[in-house]
Amino acid sequence: TYERAFLILGGVLLVLCMAALVYATVAMGIHLPGRAGEIEPGKVFTTPPFDNPGVHQTGPNQYDVVIIGQAWRFHPMEIRVPVGAELNFIATTFDVIHGFHIEGTRVNMMLIPGQISRLTYRFRKPGEYLIICHEYCGAGHHNMYGKIIVE
Ligand code: CUA
Repeated sequence: TYERAFLILGGVLLVLCMAALVYATVAMGIHLPGRAGEIEPGKVFTTPPFDNPGVHQTGPNQYDVVIIGQAWRFHPMEIRVPVGAELNFIATTFDVIHGFHIEGTRVNMMLIPGQISRLTYRFRKPGEYLIICHEYCGAGHHNMYGKIIVE
């Protein structure tokens, strides 16, 4: 019947939409928004994985990069990662909303109290990249930056 055909068509379109979304998220480095209440902002430094910020190898060419924003710095302030590796950024904030943008890349996340922001990225070129907070976060906002060394 027509009804059935429409149902199947709808299902196919839904699957295509999901596939496009997954592709956009993974391949294009689009930021996955966190869920509210994922983490208690004041207890960030004692809640895994944020009790151990920094770069942690999780596979042959795969790393978790755990970042905390706090007025007015990032923890850690400087990180080193291998060129070409899959970097899974996992970030949150201890206090207010901060930004996490790596200059010259499409890495661009908002760090929201209570939420965990995730994004996957690979650096194609070695070099030093500046991390900047691009959300106004108070008097020291313009001093809030970090560095990624890709080697
Ligand atoms: Cu942190 Cu602006």
